[in-house]
Amino acid sequence: MKPPFVITVDGPAASGKGTIASRLAADHGVQMLDSGLLYRAVGGLLAAEGKDLDDVEAATAVAEGLTVEQLSNPAFRTRAAGELASRVAVHVPVRNALFRLQKSFCLRPEGAVLDGRDMGTVICPEAPAKLFVTARPEVRAERRWKQLTGQGEPVTLEDILEDIRKRDERDGGRAASPMRQADDAVLLDTSEMTIDHAADAARRIVEAARARWERS
Ligand code: CDP
Repeated sequence: MKPPFVITVDGPAASGKGTIASRLAADHGVQMLDSGLLYRAVGGLLAAEGKDLDDVEAATAVAEGLTVEQLSNPAFRTRAAGELASRVAVHVPVRNALFRLQKSFCLRPEGAVLDGRDMGTVICPEAPAKLFVTARPEVRAERRWKQLTGQGEPVTLEDILEDIRKRDERDGGRAASPMRQADDAVLLDTSEMTIDHAADAARRIVEAARARWERS
């Protein structure tokens, strides 16, 4: 039996993947999973408990007890929460605790869009449409800087570029589900694209995948 029409959108911070994923979800009338928010919430809740980010047992307990209601906290969208997320995301038991919830999106009969780092490689390797969205670090830093200053966070562009470099290294270099392009994912480099241009390019890639899936 063919799998549901699931779209995975992976890539590094501020590559445009979040916006692209939500537009694709709207196009297809399906739910989107922002998996980064799960890791942000685990990191944020663990820090709020005053626990060490390397306390794997405590981090796993937070991940196991995570509820959907907890995800709406705006504190999880901050720069600091992104850093906390990538620190707890290296722990295998934390990733395992979040697996089932993520996999359930991948099994929805109506399809779904999954946004993250390992959606196409680990969570939903069977997805019929996969994108790996990237951009040069300097371009991503500028986008993230605009987003955070727009939210009222007083950050400098240099600090954000440093965060992005550090996070790329940690996410790509970790042993557990490192960020990487799935063999069957289409690479979309958005460095020279506006977000509308990037979303259109993503739409065309997904339409081609959808036509193949319908014929299969
Ligand atoms: O929005 P941004 O790309 O900055 O971050 P995010 O997607 O919210 O993810 C925050 C962090 O969570 C990443 O840097 C990863 O370390 C981790 N993450 C992960 O390990 N696996 C995922 N599927 C999603 C996020």
